[in-house]
Amino acid sequence: MDRILILDFGGQYTQLIARRVRELRVYCEIHPYGLSAEAIRALDPAGIILSGSPASVYQADAPLSTPALWDLGRPVLGICYGLCVAAQQHGGVVSRAARREYGRAELEIDDAADLFAGLDGRQLVWMSHGDKLDALPAGFRVLAHTENAPYAAIRHAARPIYAVQFHPEVAHTPRGTEILANFLFRVCGCKGDWEMGAFVRDAVERIRDRVGEGRALCALSGGVDSSVTAALMHRAIGDRLTCVFVDNGVLRKGEAERVQTVLGGQLGLKILSVDASKRFLDRLAGITDPERKRKTIGAEFIAVFQEAAARLASRLGPIEFLAQGTLYPDVIESVSVKGPSVTIKTHHNVGGLPAEMRFTLVEPLRELFKDEVRQVGRQLGLPEVVISRQPFPGPGLAVRILGEVTARGLDLLREADAIVEEEVRAAGLYEELWQSFAVLLPVRTVGVMGDERTYEHVIAIRAVTSLDGMTADWARLPDDLLARLSNRIINEVKGVNRVVYDISSKPPSTIEWE
Ligand code: XMP
Repeated sequence: MDRILILDFGGQYTQLIARRVRELRVYCEIHPYGLSAEAIRALDPAGIILSGSPASVYQADAPLSTPALWDLGRPVLGICYGLCVAAQQHGGVVSRAARREYGRAELEIDDAADLFAGLDGRQLVWMSHGDKLDALPAGFRVLAHTENAPYAAIRHAARPIYAVQFHPEVAHTPRGTEILANFLFRVCGCKGDWEMGAFVRDAVERIRDRVGEGRALCALSGGVDSSVTAALMHRAIGDRLTCVFVDNGVLRKGEAERVQTVLGGQLGLKILSVDASKRFLDRLAGITDPERKRKTIGAEFIAVFQEAAARLASRLGPIEFLAQGTLYPDVIESVSVKGPSVTIKTHHNVGGLPAEMRFTLVEPLRELFKDEVRQVGRQLGLPEVVISRQPFPGPGLAVRILGEVTARGLDLLREADAIVEEEVRAAGLYEELWQSFAVLLPVRTVGVMGDERTYEHVIAIRAVTSLDGMTADWARLPDDLLARLSNRIINEVKGVNRVVYDISSKPPSTIEWE
């Protein structure tokens, strides 16, 4: 199997480079920038990519690769800071640019062999750097330039060492993937025959190495990330994994049963199901402020999880590991390049478990993006109902009942929400929409049913399209779908006499109503 090593200098796009390489069906691994020549040789890479970095090579403690890297005879591609490292270690001079260059630039290709094969004379590329190469190091020549950067792409005349000042991995460099493909296939000779199944085999092995004969817990929510994490862990360590599923009382209709049948029954995961709905609802009584709802649910979750973990430990023996479905977008970049380029956002650490619960974290998906996690899920045989599930907020229906969360409100909302899901699926739109759901408004309006006037609840329907949840547009649902939703909700959900459709985009609105 061809293997590409990415040496991580702490750049913000390191994981994105890895993703692009995987998309081109080449296996890759990210390692710290200082990896020794022996370690590199042992990994036998087809090629090596040097990432970007917030540092500057002329700083006293600048992160550099081992100088022996250049004598290994392996193809190397330096990206941005990687170009500076390649240049400086070959005797070139890098200095601070008079002006930081950030944004689009037009690249003029001077040599369309190898790296730029198949590309036209001029290409848009994305620049993001504050340093510049003052002179070509000995033995190098120019492959492309921009108005500001005479050495925007260079290569060693005799060795397969390439470097680019711009970022081929970002979407703002429209033909960037072709440039990376040229490096992988033309320069490194990779075959491009790797697939997600290989990721699964590899991840399973890594989990086994890590956990050994130990036991692990996994908080299972029924969402994609935790389900795929649990399935992967289960494949690795079998029943030494116990999943804890907490019914917090603010789940969608049938969710608790679905998790049991699909993940417990079909996939054979060992699930401890805790019905804590009454506890959560008692805690939520009287609370109307959305952030207090979130905090209350978060704190109660930790309490319930902790009790479940203690019960399990007294039955099974010590449980050392906690598996989490942290994904790459959950991981924030660290400005430090001393260690790995990433640290965990505290709120993804299961709401910050108390210090006395000392689990070792296992996060097998932390290098993946959402769509890759779905591919992994498919490889593991998870059914489509789990894999294509729309995102659902941790605080659940509590933030879709405006005002106080009551049992009656939950009953109404669950029914309405189930109708929305059923009809949106029937219309074939479920997977196209980022989210589609019902919201219970804290007002009543007048209606007439039969000969009687009614004074009842209003349900708002929210359906949005989005790529990442950061921005969203309201979905232009077909009229007949809207009509069916309105009819069914008003007829079938007792206590609702009006349905409205939310036509707000994010920003300035948000996806959730609270
Ligand atoms: P907003 O409402 O901020 O939502 O536009 C963006 C995305 O985040 C989800 N969301 C949450 N997820 N805990 C979560 O786990 C929360 O408290 C929370 N609030 C919003 C929301 O469903 C949407 O996908």
